[in-house]
Amino acid sequence: MSDSVIDAATIRSAIEAIPDPETGRPIGTMGQIGEIEVAGKQVSVSLGLATHSLPIAAEFSERVQSVIVSKLPGVEAQIKIHPHARPPLRVGQAGLRIKSVIAVGSGKGGVGKSTVAASLAVTLNQMGATVGLMDADVYGPSIPHLLGLEGKPELTPQKRIVPVFCGTIPVISMGFFIETDQAVIWRGPMLHQSISQFLVETDWGELDYLVIDMPPGTGDVALTLSQGAVPIAGAVVVCTPQEVALLDAVKAISMFRTVKIPLAGMVENMSGFVCPDTGKRYDIFGSGGAREKAERLAIPFLGEIPIDPVLREAGDAGQLADVLRSDARARAPMEKIARSLVRHFADSAAASPPKPQLPTL
Ligand SMILES: Nc1ncnc2c1ncn2[C@@H]1O[C@H](COP(=O)(O)OP(=O)(O)OP(=O)(O)O)[C@@H](O)[C@H]1O
Ligand SMILES: [Mg+2]
Repeated sequence: MSDSVIDAATIRSAIEAIPDPETGRPIGTMGQIGEIEVAGKQVSVSLGLATHSLPIAAEFSERVQSVIVSKLPGVEAQIKIHPHARPPLRVGQAGLRIKSVIAVGSGKGGVGKSTVAASLAVTLNQMGATVGLMDADVYGPSIPHLLGLEGKPELTPQKRIVPVFCGTIPVISMGFFIETDQAVIWRGPMLHQSISQFLVETDWGELDYLVIDMPPGTGDVALTLSQGAVPIAGAVVVCTPQEVALLDAVKAISMFRTVKIPLAGMVENMSGFVCPDTGKRYDIFGSGGAREKAERLAIPFLGEIPIDPVLREAGDAGQLADVLRSDARARAPMEKIARSLVRHFADSAAASPPKPQLPTL
């Protein structure tokens, strides 16, 4: 094989069946293979990726490179990623154009759901995806505080809610509608209604990902979301490493399973503390428990976040987004989780690519 002549057509046929990470459809059929230049054994391939997949652009390039090398030994491939406009998102029920909704939940309060949800939104956005963030904790909304956002959302002439922006991320939260020290006392049906309203009536625009910060515990909100206008692509369960917290995480997983929201995976938060003075690691709540639990429950383990005083201080000061955008060290664990999550969606898409659309009769 290595002695045969390599040309653009050979390279094309070697890679055309690789599934696109977002849609699961072969890249050869989606117009994603751009220019292919061949100079002896050196080839350069330009590939189009939509923004949904940009968080895993580097590993997708490596995958394509390794397919080329395994089929055409001796060939050295350079991959250049260029922006690819995906076919327009299908307008879902209620006019929403959101590709993947991610619900961040836990069985227990205070484990860092809001921190993880906000960080995930900021990080996916920093990695090139279009992202929105919805605070579904209507009793104790903390997203505006963590991100230092304020303002009263207005209504468009079409009566849609205009979100508040954190950079380019549209954010909606009950916190924008109530005073900071005001308690929210609602009956169940109102809770249901306000969550559905936030989801459906906010002017999100076109999003690759909508991250939802869930309230602690109870299944009410999960149930509402599971019956809502937009299917949830995956739930992320946040837990801390100690055994009692893991038991609560198992309950959260069972709750998501009961309401038929697919699980995207588990995140271990407050997983060890590295002392800044000595560099020594202390496993304050233990560590690795969530990884083991995830394996046992056959759900992906997405990654771990150490106890990091920088995150707590940034959250308290309303600067979580600024700190994550500027501090690569603080962002690193979030990037790992964001990549695992997008990889999980890519694996699911490859396992069941959408059927080609049949012409309507
Ligand atoms: N990895 C971390 N390192 C240091 N502090 C953290 C970390 N994760 C979260 N925190 C801090 O822990 C506190 C609780 O976090 P957060 O509000 O995100 O939890 P939560 O699960 O959303 O809580 P609730 O159940 O009340 O909604 C915050 O002060 C936050 O800054
Ligand atoms: Mg919270």
